[in-house]
Amino acid sequence: MPIQAVVFDAYGTLYDTQSVAAITEEVFPGHGDLITQVWRIKQLEYSWLRSLMGRYEDFAQLTRDALAYTIRTLGLSADPATFDRIVRRYDQLGLYSDVRPSLHKLRDRKLAILSNGSPAMLNALVKHSTLTDVFAATISVDAAKVFKPHPEAYRLIETMLGVAPPEVLFVSSNPWDACGAKAFGLNVAWIERVSPQAMAEACARSDLVSPLTMFKAIRTQMDELGFAPDYRIGALSELPGIVSRA
Ligand code: LAC
Repeated sequence: MPIQAVVFDAYGTLYDTQSVAAITEEVFPGHGDLITQVWRIKQLEYSWLRSLMGRYEDFAQLTRDALAYTIRTLGLSADPATFDRIVRRYDQLGLYSDVRPSLHKLRDRKLAILSNGSPAMLNALVKHSTLTDVFAATISVDAAKVFKPHPEAYRLIETMLGVAPPEVLFVSSNPWDACGAKAFGLNVAWIERVSPQAMAEACARSDLVSPLTMFKAIRTQMDELGFAPDYRIGALSELPGIVSRA
């Protein structure tokens, strides 16, 4: 079935969550990498825990809670203004270099975001990256009050865009998100932002791996969940070819 809509995950797929490392390192010299990784790991963990607990809070709150956990656990502290300054970086994450040209080449399809991000976070991100006019919709799971990979989160694509799952190509770098979208019934392209070879090389170099390498090992490689993406791509520039052939 032809692809009518290409829907992107936001964090880690279009926007680089590692770009907060500049501020975490500036505020806590020597701890930036560890804070950046624990923060992101806990942020996602809280999204899954709250979904299982049936106690939804939006992603902006979870992002704050995860940072508070991280700073406390590492024996550090931040005054409220500094804490807010760190959190605000989440609204200004850097865009991966392959995003803008690839979106431009896909403009004959409906383009959208489906993200765990709260509506305010996503609107700020899209505005900051000047992509407002590119997307037909910026869909937040907040409308379903449950986080990905819950099926109700992916169902929002059809509800909001009016495009049925077989006509949607969902694109994510997050392996668990790619598996969740596939389990729901979407066509899925997994963008492998860290190749298995680069991963293995980083681990082989030293037995003392950095927090970033540890993060990559647990959150960037394909999961053992029994669902494989339809496409495995190395860059978003491969998407226009996939969409035109599908
Ligand atoms: C998102 C996170 C999961 O954008 O990457 O939904």
